Amino acid sequence: MADLSRLDLLRTMGQGHLLDHAETLTGSRKDRFLAELAALDLEELGTLVDRYVRSYTPEMPPGSLSPAPVIGLEDPSREPARHTGEALIRAGKVACFTVAGGQGSRLGYDGPKGCFPTGCVTGKSLFQIFAEGILGAQRRHEVVIPWYIMTSPLNHEATVAFFAANEHFGLDPTAVRFFPQGVMPSFDRQTGRILLAGPGELATNPDGHGGAFKALRVSGALEDMKQRGVEHLSYFQVDNPHAKPVDAVFLGLHASSPESSGEFSSKMVPKTSWDEKVGVFCQADGRTRVIEYSDLPEELAKQTDEHGRLRFIAGSIAIHAIGVSFIGKVTGDAAFALPFHRAIKKVPFFDPDSGRLVDPQEPNGVKLEKFIFDCIPMAEKSIVVEADRVEEFAPVKNATGNDSIESSKRLQTERAARWLEKAGASVPRRADGTVDATIEISPLTAQNAEQLAEADHPASISPGAEVVI
Ligand code: UD1
Repeated sequence: MADLSRLDLLRTMGQGHLLDHAETLTGSRKDRFLAELAALDLEELGTLVDRYVRSYTPEMPPGSLSPAPVIGLEDPSREPARHTGEALIRAGKVACFTVAGGQGSRLGYDGPKGCFPTGCVTGKSLFQIFAEGILGAQRRHEVVIPWYIMTSPLNHEATVAFFAANEHFGLDPTAVRFFPQGVMPSFDRQTGRILLAGPGELATNPDGHGGAFKALRVSGALEDMKQRGVEHLSYFQVDNPHAKPVDAVFLGLHASSPESSGEFSSKMVPKTSWDEKVGVFCQADGRTRVIEYSDLPEELAKQTDEHGRLRFIAGSIAIHAIGVSFIGKVTGDAAFALPFHRAIKKVPFFDPDSGRLVDPQEPNGVKLEKFIFDCIPMAEKSIVVEADRVEEFAPVKNATGNDSIESSKRLQTERAARWLEKAGASVPRRADGTVDATIEISPLTAQNAEQLAEADHPASISPGAEVVI
């Protein structure tokens, strides 16, 4: 039975409407609701509402911000690092970690984002694309690469069911582990009151991918990694079909570069414009950090260097390598806490006074989230490694426009065309250079140009063709 004695605190915190609502409930619904209230961290909640909802002053980046150093595409340390990375993978010391707990509201897709049809010809889901990437890497390296997938309570069951219905896309089910992240209550933007999703039910949102470290520990996934001998995680977001499941060069640099403590490394691409919606790698007080696009003051975002290039140009593609012992170290510290970031969103809610569900037309709610990249300054030495944009970044975030399924499909074809051309095949291109065909390469066939050159592939593509290789 939940400890209900502290619930009176809710009244002193301006959340008395929840207790009033509880009084209108009966039976098991009331018990469940009271238990949900009792599970809230009331002490933390009071502070959060005061700091992020009722009043809010965005945290300013430190004054001494400078661009983070980057290991470039031509850096001579890359090739030797490949061997270190390959050895780590082959020894079973690397696992994949995908964060897939987000609500995907911008995409307007009603289901876990990983199930979204993304392959430019086949319409394969994001999850299938990653699964085939992992399967391909397992075959090449002759090793099992465990895959940890963070869901949220809102999409956990649907995600697990999707994998089961698709027989885990050929992966060993015992090497695919799902665990849900935590949630936070959603708040009314004007009053700071916690919203209800329905009678006897709090409105909640996933607590951000910054909830991952805690969820890894609490779910037992961290322990599972240690038992399997996994030392490093290859981290990527569910929205990027071009993320390489395991990248030997990146993992090698992360584990062995003198600039890296093997704790938390990242990939960047040069930003295409000052207002591209990507976080930016910076340095402050000798530590690397990401300043999210929404938090980087315009004046800094627009700064250029002596060559007219953006000064803060290192855009985050949210691909990281993370040391398992680092996660153990930081989460083992009782004082471990990441800051919250707030987002103003439309949050449908139940109005107990009218007894009606309200679908707001304007953003009415505050969601609080933690970001995983706020762990970067906790690493002793953290590197940022350049990636080629077309090779590694084709995200599906929006229904249309930038970072949409259309732009992702174009990039998938462009990458496939480049690989084919490198392998000597001819690909039809229009006058503006775009590919006059749609081409999808399965990650089981090839995961880079060199692998495609060795695989069976057509010598030429016909204009307008739809091709799967
Ligand atoms: C994100 C990064 C941004 C980066 C860009 C690159 C954040 C806050 N910002 O922007 O710095 O440049 O990607 O593509 O991440 N997720 C969870 N649980 C949550 C919330 C999100 O697992 O509670 C997952 C989503 O499923 C998704 C990813 O995190 O895979 C990205 O989240 P989103 O909030 O959409 O960030 P972006 O604006 O895309």
